Amino acid sequence: MARIAVLGATGYLGGHAVTRLQADGHEVRAVVRAPERARLPEGVVVVQGDVTEPATLPAALAGTDGVLLALNGGGDVELAVQVEQQGVANVAAAAEAAGIGRVLLISGMFAQPAYAAYPWEQAKARGERMLMDSSVASTVFRVGFINETLASFVRGGRPVLIGRQRHPVRPVAVGDVMAAASTAFGRPDTANQVYDVAGGQEMTLREAAAAYASAITGRSIAPSAVRVLPLWFMRAVNRLFLRGRMTRPLGILTSMDRHGDVTDTTAWFRDFGAPPTPFTQWVAQQRDSVEGRS
Ligand SMILES: NC(=O)c1ccc[n+]([C@@H]2O[C@H](COP(=O)([O-])OP(=O)(O)OC[C@H]3O[C@@H](n4cnc5c(N)ncnc54)[C@H](OP(=O)(O)O)[C@@H]3O)[C@@H](O)[C@H]2O)c1
Repeated sequence: MARIAVLGATGYLGGHAVTRLQADGHEVRAVVRAPERARLPEGVVVVQGDVTEPATLPAALAGTDGVLLALNGGGDVELAVQVEQQGVANVAAAAEAAGIGRVLLISGMFAQPAYAAYPWEQAKARGERMLMDSSVASTVFRVGFINETLASFVRGGRPVLIGRQRHPVRPVAVGDVMAAASTAFGRPDTANQVYDVAGGQEMTLREAAAAYASAITGRSIAPSAVRVLPLWFMRAVNRLFLRGRMTRPLGILTSMDRHGDVTDTTAWFRDFGAPPTPFTQWVAQQRDSVEGRS
């Protein structure tokens, strides 16, 4: 049991991290930019802090044993660099000064230098490097494709992919990722390690989307029935109608379309074992929860 500061606690992955850390008995402190707007579970201590304002960090991190970073600076490249590169370095410096035992950074699989084709990923890659080069004990989770993302691939009850996405992926449940992150704080062997995080079952995104859509609609949807919106078409829609709001996600989907899953999970499986929720089990859970609601 430890006192863990979570930066990004109001976000998607950070929210799951908070839930899991609390369930494991850790004391959670959420460091957020606007405490008055933050909606966090009971028992979470909320303090103000901004990774782009280093002066806010010593007080925000004081008295904690570990820090979990699940930061996303968004689509603006300059802001993403400030948050995901310089912001991570600012936290590493503050954690070093405060003598904090571990910083765990949630990163993404395309932050590997060999695949970091876009400025957001390059910022993340530099942020990872700066953290690993600091003297604070650190752990990086380069997270691959998360099962829960499949929800955004279903439109009007029909699965839709952006790009043909022919390469295999190995989806992983967000709960399994955060369960591992939570245990890492108590495990010296996971210090100064970079883990590529993915699930154990290989499939195409088309197969994953069809399985998920079948589970939540109660209809049997074949992979061949998954619609595809071409990447070139979505880039045009993004430019003409969305004012570039999808530029960053389209970059990730373009990298996935080109390479598929680029994780090397050897170290992840060695140190954390196979994620406890196989994809087929997760899909069954989604079906049960929809049936339970109706
Ligand atoms: N979502 C996925 O499927 C997925 C998959 C693989 C990897 N990842 C990686 O996981 C990380 C988190 O992604 P996400 O989807 O969970 O992001 P998200 O939902 O957009 O949340 C981002 C969080 O960052 C915080 N933040 C932004 N600027 C900040 C600043 N200056 N100081 C302090 N906090 C700041 C926000 O907090 P406030 O606005 O409340 O301050 C928010 O809680 C990213 O690095 C992403 O690349 C995500």
